Amino acid sequence: MQNKNADIFSNYKIGKLTLKNRLAVAPMTRVSGKADGTAGPLMKDYYQAFAQGGFGLIITEGLYPDKHYSQGYKFQPGLTDEAQAESWRPIVDAVHKSDSLFIAQLMHAGALSQYNKYTGCNAGPSAVKPLGQEMTFYYGEGDYSTPKAMDKDEISDVINGFVSAAKLAKHAGFDGVEIHGANGYLLDQFITVHTNERTDEYGGELLKRLQIYKEVITSIRKAIGDDFIIGIRFSQSKVNDFEYKWPEKDEDAKSTFELVAKCGVDYIHTTEYNAKDPAFGKGLSLAELAKKHGGIPVIANGSIVNENDATDILNADQADVVAVGKMALSNPDWPNLIRDKQALREFSFEMFNPLADLKTANEFFQKTTKDDISSIINK
Ligand SMILES: Cc1cc2nc3c(=O)[nH]c(=O)nc-3n(C[C@H](O)[C@H](O)[C@H](O)COP(=O)(O)O)c2cc1C
Repeated sequence: MQNKNADIFSNYKIGKLTLKNRLAVAPMTRVSGKADGTAGPLMKDYYQAFAQGGFGLIITEGLYPDKHYSQGYKFQPGLTDEAQAESWRPIVDAVHKSDSLFIAQLMHAGALSQYNKYTGCNAGPSAVKPLGQEMTFYYGEGDYSTPKAMDKDEISDVINGFVSAAKLAKHAGFDGVEIHGANGYLLDQFITVHTNERTDEYGGELLKRLQIYKEVITSIRKAIGDDFIIGIRFSQSKVNDFEYKWPEKDEDAKSTFELVAKCGVDYIHTTEYNAKDPAFGKGLSLAELAKKHGGIPVIANGSIVNENDATDILNADQADVVAVGKMALSNPDWPNLIRDKQALREFSFEMFNPLADLKTANEFFQKTTKDDISSIINK
């Protein structure tokens, strides 16, 4: 059904909660936590700026959910204990003051881990060396290491970690969690044929490769109840392989989105280079496929730069909410600027040079606008 003249500022319900508009901040790792995995000093202003800037939903950077193999990056915040959860409480309160919803993204890096202060190594579905190179703007260098293949106990640790992190997120006051099932990280390594050589119940045909998604979602739902949002993110491309496409195309999309919706997620979040593009050369976009086969709310992300990009997606009923990534970094007040018909600031990759952290971003803002991120929006 066409959703003519969709209003990006209209309310929308996900799970039992209502977003004040259709505009979300995409999850973005900023390696600005403290060494112990608690939130760092620059993070409250950073997240508060998006809330004050008018976004109805903010998804955190990927937080590691356990002290086994999930940590991906140095100074990545985690959600594995009381101290880490408590460190988010003031940030959650600041975001809620502006009536924005706040969702914690739970990310297990798996084979793509570049740093792990707990176990010092990486583990994945199989011992397959990842393609590509570690990301230097997250303190990485050179090739990825070949991961240890997880045994069944270690897979149970993964599932228990997601459950425990979801409980801690609820305890800290978040409105929900988003399971990171995309971009080449652990769960995505299970569905990707060349990184999953397992012959047990977690490998083989797609439904078996999706088994870990099923267990993570159903275990979180069982532990957390119905009044807490659970979302899941999917992509085709990976941080270490931009060209990757789902091999069975529409059929993979159908099995994947049907399964996660059946398991009880409240939304599906898709990310592609451009959210509007057909997923497989022609036909529907990944977001549209998620809507068609999942039948639940869909958030679309990828190259949403201006108001037209957002309204086009909603008007075509490709998705229900749009998530803005890089443009939200240069415009934490993107919704307010659009509402007030003000010009948007261009995004520059200089903001990530040499590190994609908040200190570098603040220095970049000071250099280019003589100001920092949070005070810009309060002018
Ligand atoms: C600095 C940076 C960090 C990111 N970290 C994450 C992350 O932690 N979790 C995630 O799912 N995606 C992450 N992404 C991907 C974004 O959520 C988004 O999909 C991507 O930037 C494309 O959207 P855009 O075209 O609006 O920027 C990151 C992107 C950037 C630029």
